[in-house]
Amino acid sequence: MAPDAHRTPLAPPAAGAELWSAVDDYMNGLLVPEDEALLNARRASEDAGLPPIAVTPNQGKLLALFARMVSARSILELGTLGAYSTIWLARALPEDGWLVTLEANPRFAEVARANIARAGLSERVLLRVGEGLHTLPELVAEEAGPFDMIFVDADKKNNPGYLQWSLKLSRPGTLIVVDNVVRDGRILDPAEYRPDGADPDIAGIRRFFQLLAAEPRVDASAIQMVGAKGHDGFALAIVRADASA
Ligand code: DHB
Ligand code: MG
Repeated sequence: MAPDAHRTPLAPPAAGAELWSAVDDYMNGLLVPEDEALLNARRASEDAGLPPIAVTPNQGKLLALFARMVSARSILELGTLGAYSTIWLARALPEDGWLVTLEANPRFAEVARANIARAGLSERVLLRVGEGLHTLPELVAEEAGPFDMIFVDADKKNNPGYLQWSLKLSRPGTLIVVDNVVRDGRILDPAEYRPDGADPDIAGIRRFFQLLAAEPRVDASAIQMVGAKGHDGFALAIVRADASA
């Protein structure tokens, strides 16, 4: 038996969500073992009834690799949830690095704060509770930026505003990563994204894409992903060297 055979189903599931999930399990088993702090964060979030929408282990590690690729010393995260991605990102920072994470839901923030403490990251992570569109202007007023990396993973309907505020907290070279920009392809459905449409989050993602496309201060792309969380994607943008805020 090959050393990794136990991780692979005898026959792969039929193409589709179950297969994407099995492939995630395979890759995570080999490349992305979760330690106690990450497992605890996931379990505590589940026990507290938080929605099961945190990034997957391989996505968390990808975010950590992004942070290291840009040698991030400061990271801003919008949407803490239970701090699962926060832990991945904060661990990618050097000794003197710091991370600010914003969470609108006080109950989520309480769970997150305990998870951050259990991961031994309380000194490096500043968790601020409040609506992003309220706390982001505070950060600008406090001159908290510029951040080296910004991860946008909050309520999607406000993504256009989050992009604008993120740019105010950036410098040339800042990496902006935005989660959930595909949503099972629903971003292509006018019934969802029209101003009077079914889903303000999808409308927010569409307006975010339009802003990004028209934004001269960044170079951007977006990529679809499949996996344990279905079909979704990341948008990535780097603030240009000649950008002026
Ligand atoms: C949802 C939000 C997320 O950030 C995510 O990664 C998946 C789903 C949601 O609100 O449904
Ligand atoms: Mg997300």
